Amino acid sequence: MAESVIFTFIFGAIVVSIVYFFNLTWFDPRFLVIILFLLILPGLYAAFTSGPFVPSARKRHRTMLKLADFAPNDIVYDLGCGDGRLVFASAPHVKRAIGYELSIPLFLFGKIVSIFKSKKAFIRYGNIWSQDYKDATVIFCYLLPGSMKKFHKEIWPKLKPGTRVISNAFQIHDLKPDEQEDKVYLYRRKTKV
Ligand SMILES: C[S@@+](CC[C@H](N)C(=O)[O-])C[C@H]1O[C@@H](n2cnc3c(N)ncnc32)[C@H](O)[C@@H]1O
Repeated sequence: MAESVIFTFIFGAIVVSIVYFFNLTWFDPRFLVIILFLLILPGLYAAFTSGPFVPSARKRHRTMLKLADFAPNDIVYDLGCGDGRLVFASAPHVKRAIGYELSIPLFLFGKIVSIFKSKKAFIRYGNIWSQDYKDATVIFCYLLPGSMKKFHKEIWPKLKPGTRVISNAFQIHDLKPDEQEDKVYLYRRKTKV
């Protein structure tokens, strides 16, 4: 959340500076409010439908990485990657780590940070529900219970056998976790549907 707010303020400050520096008298300050509102709109939609940006707590974060038990060939996805911290922490240990994010400020923040982080870390702008996870071997989630239900219905059946799903805080509807530590749940996809 903090990154999102900071980004929005910095963006606003840059636009205001440009307007005054170049004396763009035609620029109505109300445009800025509209632009900022449009910038945060997709993030608000994501927050209300699948989960707001609350980064996994440090301890949980460590447990998620531990339960993932990475192998060098793993392809990792973080569904709603926020500021990308889980993607950046995974990337050095795996083949590729990809995070999808719908909030524009968070996506831009993660994208910029990714330039300075591992070449194996990818922050992509997109809705988690319309992506393809066929090549995934590890999936991280920290989403609302209703979204975990949707995940079970829409994404889980398409995962290849052996894929590990690690969910922070919320369980996958109707599935018994293979492992659990603290409130982090690990599920292994066993058979094809
Ligand atoms: C609880 S945060 C988890 C952040 C990160 N995965 C972690 O564990 O630290 C959930 C994130 O998912 C994003 N999100 C929610 N719905 C989404 C959607 N449909 N598509 C992409 N991102 C989404 C939110 O913007 C938010 O940043």
